[in-house]
Amino acid sequence: MEKIRANNLKKYFRTGNRIIKAVDGVDIEINEREICALVGESGSGKSTLGKLILRIIEPDEGEIFFNGIDITKLDKSNLRAMRKKMQMIFQDPFTTFNPIYKIGNQIFEAIKFHKVVEDNLVEDYVVQLMRVVALHPDTLKKYPSQLSGGQLQRCAIVRAISLQPEFLICDEIVSSLDVSVQVQIIELLKVLKEEFKLTVLFITHDIGVARRIANRAFVMYSGKIVEKGAIEKIFYEPSHEYTKKLLGSVLSIKT
Ligand SMILES: Nc1ncnc2c1ncn2[C@@H]1O[C@H](COP(=O)(O)OP(=O)(O)O)[C@@H](O)[C@H]1O
Ligand SMILES: [Mg+2]
Repeated sequence: MEKIRANNLKKYFRTGNRIIKAVDGVDIEINEREICALVGESGSGKSTLGKLILRIIEPDEGEIFFNGIDITKLDKSNLRAMRKKMQMIFQDPFTTFNPIYKIGNQIFEAIKFHKVVEDNLVEDYVVQLMRVVALHPDTLKKYPSQLSGGQLQRCAIVRAISLQPEFLICDEIVSSLDVSVQVQIIELLKVLKEEFKLTVLFITHDIGVARRIANRAFVMYSGKIVEKGAIEKIFYEPSHEYTKKLLGSVLSIKT
């Protein structure tokens, strides 16, 4: 079943007298419970597309269907109810959390706001999720600066998962981490996808990382999707010159 569909999405930014076509007529479809990758070099429009799909920013044009409902037509209150089901995790875990509050409080707050479980059960609920991502519950009592990038990214995953989303966008979430930690987070995400029945759009500039996590990929270049399909096909038989260029950087680990 189709979980997400975007038709002809457009977002142009105007800076001075220049127009940047960040997202320029994108069609995308993501099936329920698949991990799909969105690959492209820096500046190709990946983050803008991700934010459009969740209506974190508003499209100039286009339709976005979530479970068959066009969310571009929803008003604020209906959108808020929908938001809980669609979460996004960002690249830099050090800006995801506010440095002056303990991690736990920041996670609890979102759960209380969305009334996922009763207030007196929130802490137990989060402690369980911390176990799922292999973090000690005491981590909740720490400040962001006391944790490593990998630990913080696990906390960001807990915060997103705690709201019981159906659809998750991960925007370069392993890009700032060491390679060994990247692999751990990718494997964790695969487990979580099964356990929580998630549909995931995994954004990355690294087609090797995309291949590790996704079955299918969209390749984005200059605001447009230039190639899409099974990740193995894209990896071994890219049809677009741009994809070949992206592959150039991972050829050494191709076998
Ligand atoms: N708020 C904004 N205002 C102006 N230009 C923007 C804004 N957000 C993104 N852009 C531009 O849109 C293009 C796509 O950016 P982005 O979606 O962040 O790409 P990516 O995530 O693939 O690196 C870039 O040229 C970027 O500079
Ligand atoms: Mg980006």
